[in-house]
This record gives sequence, structure tokens and C-alpha cells, in this order.
Amino acid sequence: MKAWGRAKAIGTLAAALGMGAVSPLALGQPASAVSATVIPAAAVPLPATASVADADLIRTGQYLATAADCAACHTAQGGKPFAGGYPVNSPMGVIYSTNITPAKQGGIGDYTEADFARAVRSGVRRDGVHLYPAMPYTDYTALTDKDIHALYAYFHTAVAPVDVAAPRTALTFPFNVRASMALWNVLYLHDKRFVPDPSKTDQVNRGAYLVGALEHCAACHTPRDTLMGQSESNALAGSPLGSWYAPNITSDPVSGIGAWSDKDLTQYLRTGSVPGKAQAGGPMAEAIDHSLQYLSDEDSAAIVAYLKQTRPISNGETVSRAAQGQPLSEAAIRGNDANPPRGFQLFSGSCAACHQANGAGLSNGDYPSLFHNTATGSTHPENLIATILFGLHRDAAGKPAYMPAFGPNASFTDRLTDADVADVANYVLTQFGNAHVAVTADDVATVRRGGPPVLLARLGSYAIPALLVIVIAIVLLIGLWRARRKT
Ligand code: HEC
Ligand code: HEC
Ligand code: HEC
Repeated sequence: MKAWGRAKAIGTLAAALGMGAVSPLALGQPASAVSATVIPAAAVPLPATASVADADLIRTGQYLATAADCAACHTAQGGKPFAGGYPVNSPMGVIYSTNITPAKQGGIGDYTEADFARAVRSGVRRDGVHLYPAMPYTDYTALTDKDIHALYAYFHTAVAPVDVAAPRTALTFPFNVRASMALWNVLYLHDKRFVPDPSKTDQVNRGAYLVGALEHCAACHTPRDTLMGQSESNALAGSPLGSWYAPNITSDPVSGIGAWSDKDLTQYLRTGSVPGKAQAGGPMAEAIDHSLQYLSDEDSAAIVAYLKQTRPISNGETVSRAAQGQPLSEAAIRGNDANPPRGFQLFSGSCAACHQANGAGLSNGDYPSLFHNTATGSTHPENLIATILFGLHRDAAGKPAYMPAFGPNASFTDRLTDADVADVANYVLTQFGNAHVAVTADDVATVRRGGPPVLLARLGSYAIPALLVIVIAIVLLIGLWRARRKT
């Protein structure tokens, strides 16, 4: 799996379990051809006995599995589709995704539809054991019965069984206490199916379902509170995600995507590239590669319609990240040549061949401009740093995009130290991007490690008792509040 594939799964897990840091090794894995796990719609192998109605149901199930990106986490590098064993590295140990093929041995062949529904929507296995929220059941909980039925039909009849169990997950204490997830669920699992809002159009409701449940955009774009549950009052307002930062995608015209045209948003979700505005790297590139590019035109349009009408949330910026910066003038480039600052030297050696000395890139957008670029215009420099360290790889809409990595995966001669990356990032920020943002070598080291460790991870063995105390406190408070309301 690609480095950012891990970053994504880890992001979800880290966010859910409060684990921040990712081993640099995990992020340093070479890219692999994971796209092979996406099965084109026409190629669904149908059982010989399948009726037309079954075939339609199974095709729907396959579309839903693609939209929900089940393969991304349930297929190991070079492994069979959905056979699990994809390792999510965390400082607490490795969590393996499980085999969800219909094999009786090792897979979920014994699952009834009710068992399947409970695992996907409530995070509880057939044997009653709790899943870690690395499996995004808190988002999938909104899936309708109809969609669960189609997914079940697909997984049970059209996915090839693989009789090998995925490696067992064995975290150390206290994180091996799976029952503690029951406590976490009390706070963060709103075990409810999607209910359309009658005051909204069908299109907006469809978009809400796609964004909230299937595509689980919120899992990455909604900030987390102290216990790493999604903060509903700040839905889609932007969140750190391991090494990356998932930006504000509310309808706010400055902090969010309110000023993007429908065409730009659709193009971004389909291809990951809008020249003069934004490119998708890291976990977002993965979501596009494996899932978003395959959505129907109606579903893409529904997502856009939904995003455009979300409650705008401002993060306080006065200039949108897509509008920051300008090209470097000829005079300034010549001035640099006369008295070269270190960042300029690094930029000339490592970046200018593609992005050009004036930062304008290529006019066809193959090499994007570094001004009017959300990665350099943002108040969060993580995506700029992560792109330099890990590179960028996307393969959507028949147009692959590739930028080499300058971090641990780079060839020895291309490799940049943390101080180098900080210097070149600061040069890019001051010349082309958000000049108010500055990066230190420590910031780069943090991104390299997979992001800052979060509170629960730092609590270590106190995490579970702390969680228990907080849950009890909240339950008591709710009780008190209810009692008051009755009097
Ligand atoms: C972000 C990563 C991720 C995505 C996306 C994901 N899963 Fe999972 N899933 C996991 C992990 C990790 C586990 C194992 C968790 C554990 O052991 O506690 C798991 C466990 C499961 C299980 C429990 C099986 C068992 O008996 O252990 C089922 C069923 C399942 N997933 C189905 C799905 C389906 C269906 C989809 C798509 C709709 C999906 N998953 C998408 C990560 C993911
Ligand atoms: C696995 C995590 C993840 C998921 C799931 C995800 N995103 Fe993203 N998204 C990101 C990250 C990280 C970025 C920043 C990418 C970059 O700049 O290279 C991003 C960028 C974006 C941007 C561009 C914002 C900008 O200013 O450049 C839009 C728009 C967006 N996402 C919309 C969505 C929508 C809509 C969904 C669901 C359909 C979604 N994302 C699902 C992580 C995710
Ligand atoms: C071999 C050509 C090449 C080199 C060298 C290169 N880039 Fe890139 N860069 C690209 C391509 C291609 C993309 C992605 C285009 C796309 O997504 O469509 C990109 C994207 C970016 C982005 C946007 C990332 C995002 O997530 O939005 C930034 C920022 C960036 N490069 C900065 C740099 C810096 C700084 C350097 C030098 C350290 C550098 N690039 C070196 C080709 C290159």
C-alpha cells in the first residue's frame, strides 16, 4: 500500500484511538499498484445461478463498496482483494484489517446479514467482540438497510473467498482491552440510520448521505475533540490527519470551498487537479484513486450540491488559501542569483526544473503553479511539508500525476534533511504562498514521524481509566441535567 494509504488508515485509527505518531518506516513504504484492487464494474463475477435481479443487486453492492472504499483498508499490499492483513502501524502496535471475503475459514462466510450489519454499523464482530474504530463504523452507522443488503449480497456472492485468516491484532495493555471501545462508543457512536431532511432537495440529501456515511469525508475533514471523537459542531471545518491536514471544506467563501465553482469542485473530486487552485496529494489522492473517480455523475453532483449548502465555518483567515501568492518577478529571480539564500539554492536544485524559477509551473497544469495553490496558501503548512517529504502520486481519470519524494524514500543524492525541507518550504511560503506562515526543522520532523502525538496516546496506560472516569462523569451530568429538566 502506498505510504499515504497507510497515512490514511492511520489517520482514521490515530484519530479514533488517539494515537498520533506513525513510525517513519510505515510512511516510507514504496508505492505499489493498489489500483489493481479496484474491480471495474463490468467485471463483477456473477454466480451461474444469479438472476437478473440478483445481478442488479450485486452490481449496486459493488458500487457501494467502491464508494465506501472498503478495498483500501481490507486489501494488503500484493494481497488478494478483501483478504485483509493490511497493517496499520501505530505506536501501540499493529492493527490488521480482517479478511472480509465470504470464506468460512478466515473470512466472514458465517456472517448472516444481521451480523454483517452489526459489524459495519456498530463495530461489533459476530462473536460479540468490539472492533477498533480503525474500521470507520461511526460513519458507516448511517448506512441504510437497503445499502447494507446490497453490500452483503456483493460480499457474499461476488467476492472470491480466500481461506486464509488475516494476522491477529495483538496490541499491548491497555489498548488490547477491546471492551474499552464500548465506553468510547457510548460517547461517539450515534447508532442511527440516515434520515433525509425534508426541507432539503433530494440531491442535497443524497450528497449528505455520500459525504456523511459512504465516502466518510467527515472521518478526515471534521476536527476531533480531546477523546478523538468527531466534533459535530465543527463538521468539515478542517482537521490534522497524521502527516497531512484535511482542509476546511464547509461553504465558507474564505476558509472553506464556498468560492469554488461547481465545475472546479467536481473536477477536483474526479481528477484531483484544478490548475491555479489545488492538487490532491496523500490521503485525498487515495480517496480519489480508489473511490471518488468512480462515482456516477449524479453522485458527484450531489456531493458538490451538499458541500455548497453546508453551514459556513470560518477559521479566521482574510484571504482564501487558493488566492495567496504571486509569481516571482524576473528582477527578484536575478536578485536571488546574485545573493543566493539557502532556500533559493535548494529550490533551484530540487523544485525549479518542474515548478519553474518563477513558481508558475507549466501552463498545461502538469506541473502546478506554487502560488494560487492551496498547499502553499494555507495557514497549515503540513501538506506542503508532506508533499516535499513523501512526494505525490495519483492515478485518476486516466491522467497520472507524480512528484518525486525528497524524504526517506528519495535516492541518496536527492534526500533532504529536516533543516533543508524547512529552508525550501520557507522559501516557497515567502515567495509564492502564505508569507505569514513559517516552518521549523522540528515541524518537519513531526510531519516525518506522522504528526504530533495526541492526548490519549500520551496518557498511555492511564488512557483507559481516564476514559472510564470521563464517561462516568458525562453519564452523571446527563442524569443530573435530565433530573433538573423534570423538576
Ligand atoms: C479506514 C479503513 C477501513 C475501511 C475503509 C473499511 N474497513 Fe472494515 N475494518 C478495518 C479494520 C482495521 C478492521 C479490523 C478492526 C479490528 O480488528 O478491531 C475492520 C473490520 C471489519 C469487519 C469485521 C470482520 C471480522 O470478523 O473481524 C467487517 C465485516 C468489515 N470491516 C467490513 C467492511 C466493509 C464492508 C467496508 C466498506 C463498506 C469496510 N470494512 C471498510 C478497516 C477498514
Ligand atoms: C482519508 C482522508 C480523506 C477523505 C476520506 C477525504 N478527504 Fe478531502 N482531503 C484530505 C486531505 C489530506 C486533503 C489535502 C490534500 C492536499 O492538499 O494534497 C484533502 C483535500 C480536499 C479538498 C481540497 C481542499 C483544498 O483547499 O485544497 C476538497 C474539496 C476535499 N478534500 C473534499 C473531500 C470530500 C468532498 C470528501 C468525501 C467525498 C473527501 N474530501 C474525503 C483528506 C481526505
Ligand atoms: C519532477 C517534477 C517535480 C519536482 C522536481 C517537484 N515537483 Fe512539486 N509537483 C509536481 C507534480 C507533477 C505535482 C502534482 C500535480 C498534480 O497533482 O496534478 C506537484 C505538486 C506540488 C505541490 C502541491 C501539493 C498539494 O498537495 O497540493 C507542491 C506544494 C509542490 N509540488 C512543491 C514542490 C517543491 C517545494 C519541490 C521541491 C522540493 C517540488 N515540488 C519538486 C512535480 C514536481
